Amino acid sequence: MSQDFTIHFGFRQLQLLKGDITKMAVDAIVNAANSALAGGGGVDGAIHRAGGPAIMRELDQIRAQIGRCETGSAVATGAGDLPARYVFHAVGPIYRDGTHGEPEQLESCYLTCLRLAGERGVESISFPSISTGVYGYPIEAAARIAVKTVANWLAGDAGALKTIKLVQFSDADHQVYRRQAQELRGEFAAGSAS
Ligand code: APR
Repeated sequence: MSQDFTIHFGFRQLQLLKGDITKMAVDAIVNAANSALAGGGGVDGAIHRAGGPAIMRELDQIRAQIGRCETGSAVATGAGDLPARYVFHAVGPIYRDGTHGEPEQLESCYLTCLRLAGERGVESISFPSISTGVYGYPIEAAARIAVKTVANWLAGDAGALKTIKLVQFSDADHQVYRRQAQELRGEFAAGSAS
């Protein structure tokens, strides 16, 4: 079975794929960060390891200016040694039971990054599965929000953006994302899958 799943929106596309986000040559890579912007494990640790100290130096400056980054928001830095121009550090919600604003905060992470991308003329962006690791967001629900939010963006006025990649680190997560995308496909008026 193919590892990739693509939904086309005219000349734009949404790709679901399994892999290591630090290896992806795109204009912008999204990090699943924390509100202290302090680095951590998971994809955050992988991005800082692969990107080198320049990213944390920039985050130090941002922290000095704004303190913390609110849940549901994101800040932009350069990408250091990563094969990208920018890293958008998004702060996903810590999952409690889903009734404490988690869905809206998760959606807001994706939307904030898409706006940051628009402001910078980004053509390609890769997202990890925000909040579904240490932060405990159930993967099915998180995948549905991720797919829905970015697909709606691509179906609208997405500016320079041409490609959005949703990147899963495990086969199991990848299958969940594919299932959610297949279920949602009928809702994307402009989308056609391949
Ligand atoms: N490439 C792509 N995905 C990855 C990679 C990688 N190299 N490494 C981990 N992942 C996946 C995990 O498998 C998980 O599905 O990223 C997803 C998000 O998991 P976490 O990194 O744990 O992020 P999150 O749940 O949002 O928790 C954020 O964890 O590392 C800390 O500083 C971070 O405090 C913050 C918290």
